[in-house]
Amino acid sequence: MRALVVYESRYGSTRDVASNIADGLRATHEVTVVPVAGATAGLFAVADLLVVGSPAHRHGLSSGVHDLLSGLEGRHELAAAFDTRGNGMHAVTGRTSRGIGRLLKRHGYLLIASPESFLVTSQGTLPDNEAARARRWGAALGIIATAAHAA
Ligand SMILES: Cc1cc2nc3c(=O)[nH]c(=O)nc-3n(C[C@H](O)[C@H](O)[C@H](O)COP(=O)(O)O)c2cc1C
Repeated sequence: MRALVVYESRYGSTRDVASNIADGLRATHEVTVVPVAGATAGLFAVADLLVVGSPAHRHGLSSGVHDLLSGLEGRHELAAAFDTRGNGMHAVTGRTSRGIGRLLKRHGYLLIASPESFLVTSQGTLPDNEAARARRWGAALGIIATAAHAA
C-alpha cells in the first residue's frame, strides 16, 4: 500500500516531522514525502493513505496547505492530520491539525487517527523525543491503515 505525506514548512520543523512520520510508515507502506508544491494530482490518485501537516501560524492553517486542501478532488481514502507549533501556544491558535482534519473530511477522506501536534523548541528545532513520537505515530497510522484495508 502507498502513503503520501504532504507538508508545508518554512523553517524545517514540519519537514522534519513529516520525514519521521514517513520513516514510521515505511514498516507497512511505500511512502512518498513531498512539500505542498510537489503534491501532484498523480500522487494523490495512487495514495491509499494521505497524511497532511502544517505549522501553526498566527492565522491558523498555513496558506499552502489551505489552498491544497481546498483544491482537493473528493476521494474516499484514509487520512490523518498533524501540525507543529511552539510549546504552550495552542491556547492562542487552537489546533491547526484539527482544521486540516475538518477539510480532509469535507473532501470525503476518513480520518484514522485524532489530529496530532508535535512541539518545537523556542529556537525552532524539533526535539529528539518529538521526532521519536512522530516515528511512532507514523508506524501506528500504518498499522491502522493496513487493518482498515484488510477489513
Ligand atoms: C510567523 C510565525 C507565527 C507563528 N504563530 C504561531 C501560533 O500562532 N501558534 C503556534 O502554536 N505556533 C506559532 N508559531 C510557531 C510555529 O508554528 C512553529 O515554530 C513551527 O514548528 C514552524 O514550522 P516550520 O519550521 O516547519 O516552518 C509561529 C511561527 C512563526 C514563524
